Amino acid sequence: MYLIIGGNGYLGNYIIQSILALTNDDIVSTARNISNVANTSRIKWIKCDITDDNEFDNVIDFIKNINNIKVIFLAAYHHPDKVAENPQFAWNINVTTLSKCINKLFFVDKLFYASTDSVYGNSINNHHFKEDDVLNPVNIYGKNKCAAEAIIKYYGFNVVRYPFLIAHSLVKNKLHFYDKIVNDLKSQKEIEMFADSFRSSLNFKTAADLLIKLCELNTEIPHIVNISGDSDLSKYDIGLMIADKLGADKSLVKPITMNEKNNIFISERASSTLMDNSLIKNILNIDKIDFII
Ligand SMILES: NC(=O)c1ccc[n+]([C@@H]2O[C@H](COP(=O)([O-])OP(=O)(O)OC[C@H]3O[C@@H](n4cnc5c(N)ncnc54)[C@H](OP(=O)(O)O)[C@@H]3O)[C@@H](O)[C@H]2O)c1
Repeated sequence: MYLIIGGNGYLGNYIIQSILALTNDDIVSTARNISNVANTSRIKWIKCDITDDNEFDNVIDFIKNINNIKVIFLAAYHHPDKVAENPQFAWNINVTTLSKCINKLFFVDKLFYASTDSVYGNSINNHHFKEDDVLNPVNIYGKNKCAAEAIIKYYGFNVVRYPFLIAHSLVKNKLHFYDKIVNDLKSQKEIEMFADSFRSSLNFKTAADLLIKLCELNTEIPHIVNISGDSDLSKYDIGLMIADKLGADKSLVKPITMNEKNNIFISERASSTLMDNSLIKNILNIDKIDFII
């Protein structure tokens, strides 16, 4: 049985698909709004805002007598600019409430927490960060995630660090950046994409599949694992790949630089954050992790 905390987001929906495709497990998933999700023979939704003690205790009551529960914790306040604008609110969800929830989940067999490449900070000279590198986040979001990771590690649970993730949104009435690019290109609108900022990006499906493959292993897994792609990609590269896939005019994708367009982001961003993915490849015995759009 899987329990997903915050399962109706971008990544959560792909994780649910991966669990259904790769395992025979049933799923209990929480969402703050369960009016736009539906129970099925394998998925049960429970309404839960993690800051509401009664709602979270209901979730605990529901799972506490089930054996072999695997928890995936996704709930977070995580847009870097919003985190910078509301630092106390962000800390309360991302750290204080996370700590309270993990304390109540002490009895579960496995728990995986979704962290981010933002904990590493800037890649200097094309450095691909390994899991045991020193953390040097450049914004409050990255600092929140460092604190969150410390809580997870303290309990002996697992952290996976993801890069920039992108794909079509499976969330009802909520477009992803990917969908906005597709809509703009289809209506012949120009899009500006950073060409000088690189990430070890992945699509949501690959990110979700690799996490579930890790969860399904019956061996000891290192407490921190990067789940990232083989290619160093700028958003401009990704924009071109999407245009190519759609058969759209690639000249609609305009390269811009971080310095030239420093009004797009409010909080600081690392110019490039690249991740080394050799650990997950070793663990899963795979030799490549492609970025597929
Ligand atoms: N997407 C990426 O590129 C990326 C990269 C690295 C790490 N991550 C991490 O992956 C996780 C999922 O992100 P995502 O991309 O799937 O974004 P998302 O769609 O915004 O998912 C975040 C989820 O957290 C839930 N949530 C927020 N506050 C909550 C609260 N108080 N109580 C309960 N649930 C709450 C949201 O619920 P509602 O649906 O009710 O808003 C949503 O389902 C996050 O922890 C994020 O930091 C994402």
